[in-house]
Amino acid sequence: MMDVGRHPGIELLTNSEIESITGYVGNFKARVRRKARYVNESECIACGDCATVCPVVLPDEFQMGLGSRKAIYIPFPQAVPSVYIVSKDACLGQNPIACGKCIEACEKNCINFDMEDDIFNLEVGTIIVATGMDVYDPTAMDEYGYSRFPNVVTSMEFERLISTGGPLQGHFARPGDGKRPDRVAFIQCVGSRTQESRRGNPYCSNICCMNTIKSAQYLKDNYPDIDITVFYMDLRAFGKGFEELLMRSKGSGVRFIRGLPGEVKEDNPTGNLRVIVENTTTNRLENHEFEMVVLAVGAMPATDTEAVRQLVGLSKSPSGFLKEAHPKLRPVDTPTKGVFIAGAAESPKDVRESVTQASAAAARASILLNKSDFSVEAITAIVDENLCRKCGLCASVCPFGAILWKKKEVARVVSAACAGCGTCAAECKFGAIEMRHFTDHAIYAQIDAILETDPLYKIVTFACNWCSYAGADTAGVSRMTYPPNARIIRTMCSGRVSPEFVWYAFRKGAPVVLVSGCHFTDCHYIDANRSTVRRVDGLWDGMEKAGIRPDRLLLEWCSAAEGGRWQTIMKEVEKKRQTVTEEEIEQTRTILADSKVPGPKNPKPSDENKQADFKCMRCGRQWTGIYNRDTERTCPTCRSNSVRWLRAEGPSGKAKN
Ligand code: FES
Repeated sequence: MMDVGRHPGIELLTNSEIESITGYVGNFKARVRRKARYVNESECIACGDCATVCPVVLPDEFQMGLGSRKAIYIPFPQAVPSVYIVSKDACLGQNPIACGKCIEACEKNCINFDMEDDIFNLEVGTIIVATGMDVYDPTAMDEYGYSRFPNVVTSMEFERLISTGGPLQGHFARPGDGKRPDRVAFIQCVGSRTQESRRGNPYCSNICCMNTIKSAQYLKDNYPDIDITVFYMDLRAFGKGFEELLMRSKGSGVRFIRGLPGEVKEDNPTGNLRVIVENTTTNRLENHEFEMVVLAVGAMPATDTEAVRQLVGLSKSPSGFLKEAHPKLRPVDTPTKGVFIAGAAESPKDVRESVTQASAAAARASILLNKSDFSVEAITAIVDENLCRKCGLCASVCPFGAILWKKKEVARVVSAACAGCGTCAAECKFGAIEMRHFTDHAIYAQIDAILETDPLYKIVTFACNWCSYAGADTAGVSRMTYPPNARIIRTMCSGRVSPEFVWYAFRKGAPVVLVSGCHFTDCHYIDANRSTVRRVDGLWDGMEKAGIRPDRLLLEWCSAAEGGRWQTIMKEVEKKRQTVTEEEIEQTRTILADSKVPGPKNPKPSDENKQADFKCMRCGRQWTGIYNRDTERTCPTCRSNSVRWLRAEGPSGKAKN
């Protein structure tokens, strides 16, 4: 931080928030709110006279609430700049009649309660998102008594208790009674690696094993007489020097017991703690007494990650961390050109990994900044101004904010920001958007060619370039046999599949149509495949309304590595195709020739998180669940993604809300 603060090429804006980001690679505009500090930054010498007289005492966030601070304070000892700041909500001086003691105490007259937030715009070429992470709050895991027993602490609190810069100045003691504990237990994986949402997250938090081993070793080095036990599921010591530290820790007498405790109880009045655990090495139920228990809490995405994600237009993984453009080939890029990620914003990481990724992100950003031109793939969208009806729907679905639209104005595509997914073209009801190299004309021509002869025997398949098309390729090169009558139309994203293409295929005699794409959270265009689901939902509704069997349209997600899944999908679709008769196809043709088919319906905000009925279009299973547009729908029986949401006002009228 000191180096960053002093670097002539870096402008450090502390206590500031980004309110909005517009623009595109090379031309981002960020609106920044620099919050009032109420202390003149250039005058304050951090003497601390103001804090000495401040009457307001608050829990110190940096010390995890184990120490206190004043309403005027320095957030942490290494803060840059080393200047005081006033907690606006807690300070009595916001009403100077009530207090104002710090103003009197400050000889340099640095304090000014009339300061206001400063709002300004920044123009930047690239953005690096480094929002960090938070830790899991174990209050919900009542069996460990974190909120009831003072001597049960989290690993973050433990760090502060042993730190020389902590509330005890490094004189290790337990919080309950200030006594130095002789027996300390660490419980691993608190809030990590669990399938029960109440108990935390399914992913491994990556840093907790080594953090515990380091903490245990620190205690052993400084207090060799302390008896230390670590309860674990399995230990993950895979980095450079990690195994050696684990061996050293074992050699110093730290005891490792395989098994996660089921319960922690407090002994009154000693404040000691009983840990009940099934030792999975001996298969015995054990009962241990400790004077302090440390919960190795897992990592969570930082609170503001979601807000930043929406500001910049990024995708997230199911865990809530930000998603890279490609886990192996572009690990610091994001799908939005010119935006990079670093550190724990992407996944839980230790310092070494964070520094590595941050260096890579900085290098990637500087490569872009040193270019005078930026090349884009020639697959971007073009708006036909004569056809555009100025509705703005295209702008509302573009995952990259690449379409500029104002009320009563035609939409404009910013080619530098457009990634070519085609979801805007699929959304436009007026045919005003065309995709370079994936034109409507080319797609209709492919449908015509597929269904020109023997349509009854063909499977019209739309596959996205990145995952499902690659999955089909994997099946092929792995010599996995699947029905040879599948005819694939490649699009960049499943979001390119316009409902009109599907209706056209049925009108032309397609017995079944398959729309396929990347797994729900893996779409290479942030969340463009959410629009696919919405459109397919609309198509199923429309088909039922028109008297066409909705299960003739299927939707499946398949990754590039899932050749086996592609094989299964195609076999199942072929079975479905065999249920369609020539008469049914003729009937469909007649229906579609006569009737005007409905467009997709948008889910309403009130539909979100409500109970609804779902039906699998592949196997027919029906069940009740919660509707959420961000959750992948998978049939519990056949694992198909052709899961139809029976909306409340839908044709079936079966859904509950
Ligand atoms: Fe595959 Fe969007 S890129 S579904």
